[in-house]
Amino acid sequence: MDFFKVVAPVYDTAMKITGHNKTLKELVEHIELESGQRLLDLGGGTGQLLDELPWDKELEVIIVDPSQAMLSKARKRVVDLENGAGTGSNPGLKADLVEATGDALPLEDNSIDHVTIADALHHFNNIEETLAEIRRVLKPGGRLHIMEFDPGTFFTKFIAAAEGLAGEPANFYKPEVLGAMVEEADFSYSYKYITGSIYILTAE
Ligand SMILES: C[S@@+](CC[C@H](N)C(=O)[O-])C[C@H]1O[C@@H](n2cnc3c(N)ncnc32)[C@H](O)[C@@H]1O
Repeated sequence: MDFFKVVAPVYDTAMKITGHNKTLKELVEHIELESGQRLLDLGGGTGQLLDELPWDKELEVIIVDPSQAMLSKARKRVVDLENGAGTGSNPGLKADLVEATGDALPLEDNSIDHVTIADALHHFNNIEETLAEIRRVLKPGGRLHIMEFDPGTFFTKFIAAAEGLAGEPANFYKPEVLGAMVEEADFSYSYKYITGSIYILTAE
């Protein structure tokens, strides 16, 4: 089953109900973006992160995702943002959409200031190769921010079981376990919880 082809038509509505926008807002505030920076939103899906970006900053955002269905929703969101429809216009924003997986990024070495992976890493195959690719495309001093669910909570166990049944990898890690993986890819890391079950791990 192509999980995200099925999910794409209802994704934004479903995530609105769960309050996903609030956690994305926290993620964006945590990053402390500066004008002129390039942000790669890996596994960016329908582009919900775009709605939470600061409007007073000139940013270039590259959304990379393998799902055509999710990217087609993101395309509509970008057009709406450019036209001032939907959540409003964002004149300083330049957004590119790229169909690819994290383990083969069609991006130049040392070209990205920040990488975000929001509620997405647990869907990825080849996490080791993906971390190596992120390391390659990040500029010196650039940072990776992963927002994920702690596997120890009842909520995450439920999501993991449901996604596992749908054939998704459901790779949920405790922050220390994910931290050890990012250290293997030559990053140092820190993390903080933003809800009882969601943490942001930052690697640099
Ligand atoms: C739950 S959605 C999250 C979307 C978005 N980050 C958000 O916060 O709304 C997970 C996304 O990860 C994408 N994905 C799955 N495997 C991937 C991979 N190997 N590399 C990059 N993205 C992937 C899926 O296509 C999907 O759009």
